Amino acid sequence: MKDDKHLDNVFSEEIKKPSDFKFGATVANAFDDMVERSVPFYGEIQRMIIELAAEHALPGTNVVDLGCSTGTTMVGLNPLVDESIRFTGVDDSEEMLKKCEVKLRQENFKRPYELVIADLHEDVKIENASVVILCLTLQFVRPLYRENLIKKIYDGLVSGGVLIISEKILAEDSLFNRNFIKYYYDYKRRNNYSEMEIAQKREALENVLIPYKLSENMKMLREAGFSHTETFFKWYNFSGFISIKN
Ligand SMILES: C[S@@+](CC[C@H](N)C(=O)[O-])C[C@H]1O[C@@H](n2cnc3c(N)ncnc32)[C@H](O)[C@@H]1O
Repeated sequence: MKDDKHLDNVFSEEIKKPSDFKFGATVANAFDDMVERSVPFYGEIQRMIIELAAEHALPGTNVVDLGCSTGTTMVGLNPLVDESIRFTGVDDSEEMLKKCEVKLRQENFKRPYELVIADLHEDVKIENASVVILCLTLQFVRPLYRENLIKKIYDGLVSGGVLIISEKILAEDSLFNRNFIKYYYDYKRRNNYSEMEIAQKREALENVLIPYKLSENMKMLREAGFSHTETFFKWYNFSGFISIKN
């Protein structure tokens, strides 16, 4: 049962002075409800990411969750992998990391872990990693910085390590793209978001969430050195893919 004070009402009142979307205290407080109602099959995407991560996480290495928000992925993965594996959650939102810390403490984590406040546009340390996760986060990294980040992740992965990404994407064709976005807003309506909430959030995200086509993501991963990328999830304008470093 969800506590009313954690429901996503972030855009339910008319906003007189629109501004860019921020992962501050208001969003962090409602985030778990927001992501479940805004991302189709979010629970299943998480389950798949956790299943894939558990398959590839190696004893004595690091699992790094970039843009970890409230820590949902780390909480799900914790019971499934060796306790010698160190978890690192990275986010630039202090409020998100506070929520994450509370969740991890409730789970009684025995493994070494750290929560790092850092901006992915700047230097983020990734080393000895068997798994790196970017769940709904790469889309918030400004395009100019994306290649650099992917290259840094590639360099920080051990041989056989994987990068697991889930992203909002653009369709390859503009007609399908328009339709997919229309179906996505229908999905939000079915999840009880009003027209005003949908419109205000769309406006707030316009300059900060920049989706690539699936083909553009694949190209970027190939150019960074990943020998193979496989799509494991697709729903209209949402996708999940995993890349391996040989
Ligand atoms: C949609 S949420 C990610 C959801 C989360 N991975 C999950 O599976 O529930 C995006 C997260 O990325 C973080 N973020 C966005 N831009 C960032 C940046 N430049 N550096 C670090 N974190 C960033 C936000 O604070 C937010 O917590």
